[in-house]
Amino acid sequence: MYRSHNCGELNASNINTEVTLAGWVQKSRDKGFMNWVDLRDRYGITQLIFDESRTDKTVFELAKTLGREFVIQVKGTVIEREAKNKNIPTGEIEILVSELNILNAALTPPFTIEDETDGGEDIRMKYRYLDIRRNPVKNSLLFRHKVAMEVRKYLSDLDFCEVETPYLIKSTPEGARDFVVPSRMNEGQFYALPQSPQTFKQLLMVGGMDKYFQIVKCFRDEDLRADRQPEFTQIDCEMAFVEQEDILNVFEGLTRHLLKEIKGIEVDKFPRITYEYAMKTYGNDKPDIRFGMEFGELNEFAQHKDFPVFNAAELVVGIAVPGAGNYTRKEIDGLIDWVKRPQVGASGMVYAKCNDDGTFKSSVDKFYDQDDLGQWAKITGAKPGDMIFVLSGPANKTRAQLSALRMELATRLGLRNPEEFAPLWVVDFPLLELDEESGRYHAMHHPFTSPKPEDMQLLETEPGKVRANAYDMVLNGNEIGGGSIRIHDKATQQLMFKYLGFTEEEAKAQFGFLMDAFQFGAPPHGGLAFGLDRLVAILGGQETIRDFIAFPKNNSGRDVMIDAPATIDDAQLKELHIKVDIQ
Ligand code: AMO
Repeated sequence: MYRSHNCGELNASNINTEVTLAGWVQKSRDKGFMNWVDLRDRYGITQLIFDESRTDKTVFELAKTLGREFVIQVKGTVIEREAKNKNIPTGEIEILVSELNILNAALTPPFTIEDETDGGEDIRMKYRYLDIRRNPVKNSLLFRHKVAMEVRKYLSDLDFCEVETPYLIKSTPEGARDFVVPSRMNEGQFYALPQSPQTFKQLLMVGGMDKYFQIVKCFRDEDLRADRQPEFTQIDCEMAFVEQEDILNVFEGLTRHLLKEIKGIEVDKFPRITYEYAMKTYGNDKPDIRFGMEFGELNEFAQHKDFPVFNAAELVVGIAVPGAGNYTRKEIDGLIDWVKRPQVGASGMVYAKCNDDGTFKSSVDKFYDQDDLGQWAKITGAKPGDMIFVLSGPANKTRAQLSALRMELATRLGLRNPEEFAPLWVVDFPLLELDEESGRYHAMHHPFTSPKPEDMQLLETEPGKVRANAYDMVLNGNEIGGGSIRIHDKATQQLMFKYLGFTEEEAKAQFGFLMDAFQFGAPPHGGLAFGLDRLVAILGGQETIRDFIAFPKNNSGRDVMIDAPATIDDAQLKELHIKVDIQ
């Protein structure tokens, strides 16, 4: 038996008990005649004491050789501590050690295994197994496990069945590039790793599984950001014989359950807003609604005066920033520079300060009188003491710029409290999205998404206006999930592929299996997938998903610990019929 107890469970009620513990040496304090060692495992820290007068001489001497992160086993007696530590559960006791067994020595770790470490990101990733010994990382993994367990419990109770789908498949279009795997047995042919199990879960519905879920790895070769990894995990779900309303209710229920069980927070029914409303009001399809600063469109009261910049713009739009009326000139100039950075891309910014006496002072007083500015204040909801910031230009770009400013100001004003949770649904997404480069329409969600029947007639004439039965769940400014009601008949699916620019042959070659299945009694169905990493990170009060993944990739898609990706040897290449030609 390696241990009778773990390092987090002994307390005053165990005094005089003989115990065996095992773990890592967190630190030791050698006072010559007395040596204290903090022994750590996943569950906590227990203090060991080696006392010249009470400990066997060889054990006492051996304890002096212990270094940080040595793996040891000790036997001893639980005794009451003289100097108690109220901050840890084991702080009232210590172990008077009688036997010490060094299970494994350790090199000095390249960074300190403490909550606040001296190790930078790169070194911690290279030695991720040491990083995982630190509380913040360990606790994030335990937290992730708890969320996943609650998900499994909730969905299983509702009769959802977890089914595994294959990883070696054919391309599933979710809008990113595929990772591919060469087939040794089929020369010149490749599998694609799933960007999601989309087609398989639909086939499970045709198979009559009725309610499916899977906590599943997905693979997307796309540019990485704080909330994106090339391999990430979805809570993937699908249901048969449902309408959008059924799906929204089930998964709103799941999210509400998680908020209650994990965070102890009760939330009301989630607001639902349309994509169009989200874009007009927040400039963003994943709005953070923990705070206001909603957009006010000012064209009516900003154009046809003598200010050429606004006159020439497609959209003039502003936000009222609460309490920012006292910003100094320097602070305002700083913000103007901020929106002019290439990452945001505004050409300039107008501001109007709302004085306490109800008057206004703006950067464009030459063109606008107090009545005009009063209208701006009314439309943006500005109050005395606030500042109105106004951007103008092409509608979509300007909305995106103001959205970036809104989020930046909210961060600076401390309005993005990570312990506050404001979920919502964004519904009625457009079915198609114009790719400006190719001039072609793409499916905004994926090609299996059902158009709203009432918009079908617009497909020929105004494809950009067709709305889909598609929805996203948004939490604190992050898209944590998305899904749709699917097309379930061959004719509509064929039509969709046609509009997406597939020839009949291409559609058949790539998705013939799905359209075939639709001819064998496919039930109406729909579903959604949550990004588990994102959901866990946000529930954990953070937005960087890397911290909640045991072995994440860095921003170049590399695992620096195992050093992947890597070249493979010539024999393996030959076997796979691959010629590598790197210049
Ligand atoms: P979608 O592409 O919207 O939908 O993905 C669902 C959710 O997965 C998360 N996500 C990611 N998380 C981390 N890293 C990534 N690279 C990444 N990409 C996506 C997001 C997102 O909301 N098959 C459909 C679902 C459906 O229609 O049922 C799908 O995959 O949180």
